[in-house]
Amino acid sequence: MSSKVVIQGDQTLGKIDRNIYSHFSEHLGRCIYEGFWVGEDSPIPNTAGIRNDVVEALKAISIPALRWPGGCFADEYHWKDGIGPRENRKRMINTHWGGVVENNHFGTHEFMQLCELLECEPIICGNVGSGTVQEMAEWVEYMTFDGVSPMAELRRANGREKPWKLTYFGVGNENWGCGGHMRPEYYADEYRRYQTYVRNYSGNVIHKIACGPNVDDYRWTEVLMREAHNHMHSLSLHYYTVPGTWEKKGNATQFTEEEWIVTLRKTLFMEELLTRHSAIMDKYDPAKRVGLVVDEWGNWFDVEPGTNPGFLYQQNTIRDALVAALNFHIFHNHNDRVRMTNIAQIVNVLQSVILTEGDKMLLTPTYHVFGMFKVHQDAERLALHLNTGNYTYGNESIPQVSASASKNGDGVIHISLCNVDTAKDAEVEIELRGLTEQNVEVSGTELTAAEMDAHNTFQQPDKVKPSAFTAFKVEGTTLKVKLSPMSVTVLELK
Ligand code: AHR
Repeated sequence: MSSKVVIQGDQTLGKIDRNIYSHFSEHLGRCIYEGFWVGEDSPIPNTAGIRNDVVEALKAISIPALRWPGGCFADEYHWKDGIGPRENRKRMINTHWGGVVENNHFGTHEFMQLCELLECEPIICGNVGSGTVQEMAEWVEYMTFDGVSPMAELRRANGREKPWKLTYFGVGNENWGCGGHMRPEYYADEYRRYQTYVRNYSGNVIHKIACGPNVDDYRWTEVLMREAHNHMHSLSLHYYTVPGTWEKKGNATQFTEEEWIVTLRKTLFMEELLTRHSAIMDKYDPAKRVGLVVDEWGNWFDVEPGTNPGFLYQQNTIRDALVAALNFHIFHNHNDRVRMTNIAQIVNVLQSVILTEGDKMLLTPTYHVFGMFKVHQDAERLALHLNTGNYTYGNESIPQVSASASKNGDGVIHISLCNVDTAKDAEVEIELRGLTEQNVEVSGTELTAAEMDAHNTFQQPDKVKPSAFTAFKVEGTTLKVKLSPMSVTVLELK
């Protein structure tokens, strides 16, 4: 059966916030150390200790914002351990992630420098679980106060005269779990107290993100919105795609077709989560002032054989590319509430866009989806109606095609499409309504692979990469497209 897409070129449904394409970095495994930080004396080319190749690759996909220092690490992180001369910084145990020694060589100054190099906004996650209100308040003062104060003087003594711009501040992470095992009623009160002292200094305005629910914990959302919505700008949500169980999640590269379809079906659960959490938020905030920030999402598989189980290092295949693209389409559909999302995690951990090994670096299929989809950043979402058949395997069945469309400030339209079927092409007829004469020049890019487990390795770093897409015909205002099996495609209409 062929699929039919109707796009209403003159009907916009709000902006797709560029922050939906944001990232997450934690002191976990080889994300910060090795992934970003190699130190000034490293033979790996770097700028003030931060590796150049990774920064250049990330700049190419336009990273809007980067979250740090965790994750679970955030609620055990004491920021003062990570400032001042590096040789004097405290060494501590990274209790959550492998029990390794954390030497605190990468701290506030290094993270802010990384964001400056990436030209992205910092998102700092503060410590509610094991930190004090004073500690959180002083961190904000240290980073943002321009006058005379103990923390501003300390920052200057550490070599930074001017404050940094800090827009986003998370008040705790997973406080229902690793961030303190709190009940929502208790966290709501703690949130109200801690956020009081997250102040706006010297013209800097902070967007406060409250810790939101774990997956489908709708009661958490209800209590947080009821008790604290007036004190937050956003509420977070965490949902990972785990094909198996938490004990046996499944392998990143060796999997069956059943695991393929189950992974994609579980990814589509994001739609229900956003719909139901948004409905609760609507009750308390019908004007949709409070954003929903999915600040951890992506595939979570078993670690690569032979690697430290606490380091969460996993490979990344064409399956990951489809998971990323399907999630983005769902986020676009909820652009009235979803203002930011952060894939977990940016380098060497979980569903990464970059993997490194010594001085080598590779771009994963997920990276290429970010690259292809960056055209949607801050573009207006277009009304779209999709009618598609199902891809079925065993007892599992999911829609074969997924689609989203946007129009940018220059009137250029981008249509992204996924075909999740492992064997069949998808014939898609795209009808463009309400278009002006100018949208006639069509071009396309495709990411696809011949095998389900296709991935890039340090020996073959370009096995999965985008290529020009030409399998389309323009017939008046209709576009006839043939999508390859297991593919992500972006069309541009000028
Ligand atoms: O991303 C890995 C971990 O997953 C984070 O530290 C935590 O917030 C979540 O449970």
